[in-house]
Amino acid sequence: MDFRMNSPAGKAILAHAREGDYAHPGEEDAILAAVEGLPRDAIRRLLDVGCGRGGTADWFQRHGWGEVTGVDIDAVSIDEARQRYPEIRFVRQDVCRMEPARFSGFDLVYLFTALYAFPDQPEALRRMRLAARSGAFLLLVDYTRPAGSPPPPELGPEIGNPIESETVADTLDAAGWKLQTQEDWSDRFAGWYEDLLKRFERERDWITQTHGPDWYGYVTGWYGALRRALGEGRLGGALIRAVAKD
Ligand SMILES: C[S@@+](CC[C@H](N)C(=O)[O-])C[C@H]1O[C@@H](n2cnc3c(N)ncnc32)[C@H](O)[C@@H]1O
Repeated sequence: MDFRMNSPAGKAILAHAREGDYAHPGEEDAILAAVEGLPRDAIRRLLDVGCGRGGTADWFQRHGWGEVTGVDIDAVSIDEARQRYPEIRFVRQDVCRMEPARFSGFDLVYLFTALYAFPDQPEALRRMRLAARSGAFLLLVDYTRPAGSPPPPELGPEIGNPIESETVADTLDAAGWKLQTQEDWSDRFAGWYEDLLKRFERERDWITQTHGPDWYGYVTGWYGALRRALGEGRLGGALIRAVAKD
């Protein structure tokens, strides 16, 4: 069995527990807080990188932000997203292989807990810069870790490569982005995951009947460990905003 939260089954369980096609903490609250103060008038074309099942792309399009393109490497998620939100353009695409011929001129590039999952983050950021116009905005909601510390080992490879808050400005700069603001969202993440664990408990019967008891054990175990790591400061969360340099 493919026990990974980023597998189609993992994302389906998250979507059910969160009552929306979201695989990021905080669901709509996180989106609302992340976009606060962004100049809407300057934004018409949006790129959702690591869009998963498309709930966030749908939120932006439904709330009149403009025309959204969602990209994700996972074919099953892209198929689901296309079926559920047919008015949105979803493309199966590895972010590190995006070419300007197909992806360019975006005014806002956003990622909700996706960058941590990319094996080559500098290349992903560079490709996203190529897809953006000069002065475009980059919005990252993601996991963080203290500089020099490995990600919590009990979370295994699933936790990928959380952002190092201390070095993110340089990483962005090297890829053509200028850091604007960085907000510590660790307490928000901890609260959101507390809430998610309660939702799993409430949905125990659905998860075991639909996906089996092993999946219930996996999601509660993994997110329980994630919640503890957040409480102990070995993992954090952040909202990062940057603009595309000329
Ligand atoms: C935790 S999910 C977040 C999904 C979505 N942003 C949301 O909030 O619901 C991370 C997503 O990144 C995608 N992903 C991982 N590696 C990728 C890559 N190289 N290129 C594009 N997407 C990738 C995964 O398939 C997964 O859907």
